[in-house]
Amino acid sequence: MQLDKATPEKLRQWEQSLASEYAGLASQSLSLDLTRGKPCAEQVALSAALDGILAGDYTTATGVDTRNYGGIDGIAEMKQLAAGILQVEAGEVLVGGNSSLSLMFQTVLHAYLFGFDGPDSAWSRQGQAKFLCPVPGYDRHFSICQQLGIEMLTVPMNADGPDMDRVEEMIKADAAIKGIWCVPKYSNPSGAVYSDRVVERIAALGPTAGAGFRVFWDNAYAVHDLGPEPAQLAAIMDCCRRLGTEDSVIQFASTSKITFAGAGVAFMAASAANLASFKRALGVATIGPDKVNQLRHARLLPSMPALREHMKKHAQIIKPRFDCVLEHLQAAFGNCDLGRWESPAGGYFISFYTRPGLAAEVVRLAAEAGVKLTPAGATFPYGKDPQDSNIRIAPTVPSVAELEQAMKVLIICVKLASVRQKLVTGKAF
Ligand SMILES: Cc1ncc(COP(=O)(O)O)c(C=O)c1O
Repeated sequence: MQLDKATPEKLRQWEQSLASEYAGLASQSLSLDLTRGKPCAEQVALSAALDGILAGDYTTATGVDTRNYGGIDGIAEMKQLAAGILQVEAGEVLVGGNSSLSLMFQTVLHAYLFGFDGPDSAWSRQGQAKFLCPVPGYDRHFSICQQLGIEMLTVPMNADGPDMDRVEEMIKADAAIKGIWCVPKYSNPSGAVYSDRVVERIAALGPTAGAGFRVFWDNAYAVHDLGPEPAQLAAIMDCCRRLGTEDSVIQFASTSKITFAGAGVAFMAASAANLASFKRALGVATIGPDKVNQLRHARLLPSMPALREHMKKHAQIIKPRFDCVLEHLQAAFGNCDLGRWESPAGGYFISFYTRPGLAAEVVRLAAEAGVKLTPAGATFPYGKDPQDSNIRIAPTVPSVAELEQAMKVLIICVKLASVRQKLVTGKAF
């Protein structure tokens, strides 16, 4: 379908036949959901052995009774596993509760209200704080900034990470920029993996930035490879050590998409100074995390090789779902410019772009035909995609059969919206 070469007559014919196909699909009372990236039932079942795994033995290898209070930074076994995931030393890890998002919120809040380097370093005391947000990005990162009134500045996301020329330029020019959100491996939603050079440049940002600047390195998909050849991400803490910038990066991850999304284990890694500062504040809010759940996880996944085997089982379940979406997109739009997309090698999302100005309309049309998509704009700060073009597809929960149906609907909606737009504007895009 080459819209820009079509006559108005041809466009009207396409519109009519697409509209009748759309009406046919809409009459099927579908109820399909491609919105949130969460594991499907088969995936969470991979960790069913967590239930009862302790068999009455609640004591860690170093003799800690996990049922009791204490141990604000978590148990040694889980720190070891987290260190393997985040490519850091176990001593740089704090293991928390079930949610890394919650740790990120607490960390940003700590920097904002209390300051990592004492009260005077609190962002709230330094005027309007700003964050760099590579886009498209993760909506919940943006919500944290919005909640605290932190102004968000966008930077384009390339195939190898954020546009670093732009990032460096903006940071040098504006000392009010206090942070940057990064999802360095299988980024949400583009699937991009940061190149070694980008990681190195991010590790070097601290000294050029304003006081209190921190990189928020959310490695949520560190081990979530879809294929047999995992993408390699440079270890940012190693770069920081070489550059002497350890205090400028704080890392996060969790087992939410490894074991149970709602009952996993979250962790962070940071320099000794950052951890000590954060722990002082955390200790006011809690006497300690759920160490029983941490021990359960350490018993289920006692080593990185065990974790890798476990992740292969996840890939076996979800890879066919990703393939289904990508095959439909290729068949529908491979030879035309109605849509473009990224083919991720891991993570939880496929990022799709309509022609400018159509994402919201496509999401609306799909919803009316019974296919729920993430709201257009959700992948941008303040929910506003300036191009109105990006749609995040989350393929893990529906079955392949459901995805087949959902993709048929999505594709008709994209075609219909594109033809209608062309009929109205009449000009080439
Ligand atoms: C990039 C990213 N970070 C964090 C999370 C949530 O992590 P958690 O369940 O550990 O709070 C998600 C969930 O979709 C995510 O995509």
